[in-house]
Amino acid sequence: MKDQFDREINYMRISVTDRCNFRCKYCMPESGVENLGHDKILSFESIERIVRAAVNLGIHKFRLTGGEPLVRKGIVGLVEKLAQIEGVHDLAMTTNGALLKDYAADLKKAGLSRLNISMDTFYEEKYREITRGGDINEVMDGLDAAVAAGFARIRFNAVIMRGFNDDEILSFAQLTLNEAFDVRFIELMPIGHAENDWRYGYVPNSEIKDRLPGLVPVSSKDSVAQYYKYPDAVGRIGFISPMSDHFCGSCNKIRLTADGKLKPCLHTNEELDLSPILKTGDDEALREAISQAIFNKEEKHHLNEGAEPIDRDMNKIGG
Ligand code: GTP
Ligand code: 5AD
Ligand code: SF4
Repeated sequence: MKDQFDREINYMRISVTDRCNFRCKYCMPESGVENLGHDKILSFESIERIVRAAVNLGIHKFRLTGGEPLVRKGIVGLVEKLAQIEGVHDLAMTTNGALLKDYAADLKKAGLSRLNISMDTFYEEKYREITRGGDINEVMDGLDAAVAAGFARIRFNAVIMRGFNDDEILSFAQLTLNEAFDVRFIELMPIGHAENDWRYGYVPNSEIKDRLPGLVPVSSKDSVAQYYKYPDAVGRIGFISPMSDHFCGSCNKIRLTADGKLKPCLHTNEELDLSPILKTGDDEALREAISQAIFNKEEKHHLNEGAEPIDRDMNKIGG
């Protein structure tokens, strides 16, 4: 369905947990998250109901996110259920990849269509630093398992931060040369209460593009990333520029948080709590609530005009 600004909303991002096995500095506080508790977290049955209602409203692309979606118990079963719903045409997941070694084959079998892996550095020490404890070797094993399981066109998301990983831009770009990987550079966004000093690391994507001469534009329907490639490369390079060139005008998505709130825009505190409706079992009311949230979606974010970062940390939204 369309929102009040005539944008077709056909994509729902579903955060299945706010927990994560890592603590990325720009994403969540070092102390981690307080336990939301079982009664607050959406059950798989509720997620299924919401997806059915969303499909009814013309949403056909779904992405499971977190925190880290693979730490939610029973996640493969959820994928299996959602993949079978008629009208779910694209069911993807964004993960840090560290648990993929154990899950990739089962996820593929359950019907997951695509995987995006977040990875900001190739170096063991730096990986441990930015994730506060993660092991890059697990991610590499996870990647191998995902490729072996048959996931095609895996996408890497890298947030480039000055003085941290801006010396690795070329290495990221070169990942696309010989294999069918897409690499996307995401501009660092001021969100939530994550560590303060990360804010100074922001690098605009225009600078990254300048540092990668020889790229040619690729036409694509993507509403978020602008894609390029090296002439003989197999994969593509995408630029996601929410800060320097925001794509709000072509935004096609709505977000569902792990505690049952619909979030029409990443950068506002506006949320619509679905839990009371979920308790009633009234699917018509559920559809009505989702369509209200879609219709009222904000026109754009105001971060470049000095707006304050939202209260929720990124791990409680799912990117
Ligand atoms: P594809 O379906 O493969 O294109 O994936 P995607 O880009 O929709 O999902 P992914 O989780 O890989 O998103 C990459 C990141 O881009 C997110 O985690 C956010 O950091 C950023 N991003 C995506 N959508 C938005 C948006 O609407 N607003 C802003 N500001 N950032 C976004
Ligand atoms: N700015 C930009 N991207 C972020 N992500 C998490 N926090 C931020 C932020 N502050 C990205 C991760 C991952 C996705 C889920 O969100 O790198 O790719
Ligand atoms: Fe976890 Fe992803 Fe946030 Fe890192 S960015 S702490 S991996 S949810």
